[in-house]
This record gives sequence, structure tokens and C-alpha cells, in this order.
Amino acid sequence: MAGAAHPGLVGIFGRPYLDLETIVFERAWGNASGPASAAIFPELHEEICLALAQMPLDYTGGSHRSMDIMPEARRSEALVDYQEVIRGMTDAEFETFRSLSDDPRAIDASRRRELEFGEERAISLSRRQMQWLKIRFGVFFPWKGYVELIPNRKWEDKSNAEGKSFTRAAEAFFPKTIAFVRSLPFASIGRCNIMGLEGFDYGTVHRDGDPADQSAPDQFITVVPAANKRLYLWDDRCTREVDVDSRVYWFNDFDYHGVRADPFFRYSLRVDGVFLPAFYRSLEERFHAR
Ligand SMILES: [Fe+2]
Repeated sequence: MAGAAHPGLVGIFGRPYLDLETIVFERAWGNASGPASAAIFPELHEEICLALAQMPLDYTGGSHRSMDIMPEARRSEALVDYQEVIRGMTDAEFETFRSLSDDPRAIDASRRRELEFGEERAISLSRRQMQWLKIRFGVFFPWKGYVELIPNRKWEDKSNAEGKSFTRAAEAFFPKTIAFVRSLPFASIGRCNIMGLEGFDYGTVHRDGDPADQSAPDQFITVVPAANKRLYLWDDRCTREVDVDSRVYWFNDFDYHGVRADPFFRYSLRVDGVFLPAFYRSLEERFHAR
């Protein structure tokens, strides 16, 4: 539990989240590239903004309610969920939906009641399908500025670096960001992406797994170079939001979390992997004892 003040959060080392901004830049942590510093944030921000302006942006989220990963009190905030929409389509609508797939032949309309689509499901949505779901049915995709720098197909593989690398587009558009990511204290990196939200959108409150199934929190670092994305944790027992007030942080993503609405585009950079042992020990020493 993340302290008496937050009985509804599991947290990390007895805290709701860890502010890593100081410790992550303290020393090289065994990485040959050496420590970066927060002084690089304005440069990263320029690079990331320019890249996002030139790249096709993907959508993510949009089915948190049907995935059953939202707290009861906040389920209505998912608005229109695409899995629910797809299930409710007429046969003619489903045929249009199927035709917009990147591979329509892979979708057997006669089995549509058994099929699931999108994030973490067997059949992913094409960009055209997402646009149609949004434009025709009003589906709410909270993250409309999503870019995978190191793609990862399944959530449970996100710490595993095997067979993965930065995409060619990422190498072309994000050289400074990639150098920065490589300077972070990871022994291996299995996933790296930009999570951007359009102005006025919010990130629906959800959790990425059930804490009952967890032996230890998944390891990752989130960086917000512009310090303008307002993530919060949701203590479901106290029905209270807990602000994450840092530009570099790690939280337990099996705790509920969401992003507040703001009237402008904002993003974070998330890197998943396995921490260097020395870095993990240092976190334990620094945060656990206090
Ligand atoms: Fe999440």
C-alpha cells in the first residue's frame, strides 16, 4: 500500500509514485553513453514537436470500458467505446467496417460475434477503421498523438527487448530522443513510445493490470519534457485523484491512472524495459527506507 494517506494505491516502495528527475541524471549507471541531464529537455521538446508535425499519428485507447480496466466510478468517462460500437453494428455497417481493414479477408463476418478488435486484441484496427469509428459513431480515442518508436505487440512483452528495435521513421525523426532514451538506466528496453493527447481530450482512468496478479511493479520511466501533461493516480478506495508532479517518474501502472484535460496538445515519452540492477538498488535504498 502506498502509505496511509493512499490506501487505494499499491504504489512503489510505499509511495504513490517515484520522482526520478534527480536520480536518473545523477550518474551514468553503467551506460556507456553517460548521463543525460534535464537541460536537454527543451531540445527534446523541439525535436519531438517537429517530428509529430511530420509523421502520421496513431490513436490508442478507445476501449478501456469494454476491456474492463476502469474503476466503476469513472466508467462513463470512456464515452463511446469502439468494442461496444462494433458489437452493435448492423451487418451492413460491419461490412463497411471490414472493408476498411488493412486485410479484410482476415475478418470472417460470419464469426463476428466471437471476434475482438483493437488494442491488445487479435485483430488490430487500421487507421481508416479508427477514423470511421470516430467520425461515424463518435468513438472517443483519448490518445490521438500516439507514435511507437519501438513497437511492441503484446502488453506482457513490453519489458522484453528481444527482436525489437527503433523503427526507421524513429531513427530519422528522433535522433536526439533516441540518444536520450539510450542514456536512461535500463539494462534492456522493450517498448518506447510517445503518448500524445489533443487539446481538450483527457486520458480515461484505467489500470494496466490487476494488482492481485502482480509480484512487483513493471519497470518503466515516463518523461514529460514540456512539464505540461497532468497525469494523476486514482485512489479508488478514497475516490480521490493523486497528482503526479514530476517531469521524470515511475508509477505502478497496475494502479488506476488518467490524464487531466487541458486546452492544448501535450505528450509524454514512455520507456519500458528492465532497469540496471545498480539503478534499481539505488531506488530501493533511497525511497524504501524513508
Ligand atoms: Fe496505462
